[in-house]
Amino acid sequence: MKYQLHPSYQYCHALINHIDMHFKQASQILHAERNEIRIVPFEGEDYVVKSFRIPHIVNRFVYRYLRPSKAKRSYQYSLRLGAEICPEPVAYIEQFQYGLLARSYFISRHFKYDFTIRPVLNDATFKNRNEILRQFANFTYHLHQRGILHRDYSPGNILIKQQQHKYLFKIIDVNRMQFKALSLQNRLSNFARFMVDDATMKIMLNRYAHLIHKPQHEILAIAIAYRDQFTHRRALKNKLRGR
Ligand SMILES: Nc1ncnc2c1ncn2[C@@H]1O[C@H](COP(=O)(O)OP(=O)(O)OP(=O)(O)O)[C@@H](O)[C@H]1O
Ligand SMILES: [Mg+2]
Repeated sequence: MKYQLHPSYQYCHALINHIDMHFKQASQILHAERNEIRIVPFEGEDYVVKSFRIPHIVNRFVYRYLRPSKAKRSYQYSLRLGAEICPEPVAYIEQFQYGLLARSYFISRHFKYDFTIRPVLNDATFKNRNEILRQFANFTYHLHQRGILHRDYSPGNILIKQQQHKYLFKIIDVNRMQFKALSLQNRLSNFARFMVDDATMKIMLNRYAHLIHKPQHEILAIAIAYRDQFTHRRALKNKLRGR
């Protein structure tokens, strides 16, 4: 086993050492698909533990010797992003079998959010919708200005907590990040995965265009083109997979 525990969470050593047991005993399952996510209580605090599925044989080798595992990347990128942008990272753990990566875990603090951006995007009657979408454009701009590109910027990965009239945004699923100066293409294609209608794109992109001092109609048209491209590629992929 290999792990890294954040210096502020040294009292969580027992959680790390018995992670399989704590994970198995946790009754609150947040998500159970490819990877499984549970809320694990430990000494009066709630932690979110993401258990990564054992990769196929090639990647078990790759993630052992050539590239950091998803768990390790989630931990390191979260540290780099900071607590203002994502839930605080606590630890990552890698387990090995025959010298290859087996199970791995990423542990973060539980962020008690009110909703993800999914219902805001999909429900035109969502309370305070336009304001949330504009604040979301501000948040995205803030990430982009800091040179942060989330490669899986999709509705389930954006958590929102309401604080009076302000909304607090945090991103999760951060194992695929890029840190660099972003081009206009990088910026606008980052809105593609939301796959929302033109009217919703307009609310977000008008604000974004204003922030980057570019003409609104031009920016919206480019962003819509990226969305369409992504939608077609996604549809084709699903068709090939027979979904
Ligand atoms: N730190 C956290 N605090 C609160 N909820 C969280 C936290 N991390 C994850 N969640 C919840 O778990 C859900 C899924 O998390 P995450 O996006 O990391 O997994 P995933 O989408 O299954 O990942 P993948 O796409 O790699 O399979 C989120 O939508 C959210 O509800
Ligand atoms: Mg996700």
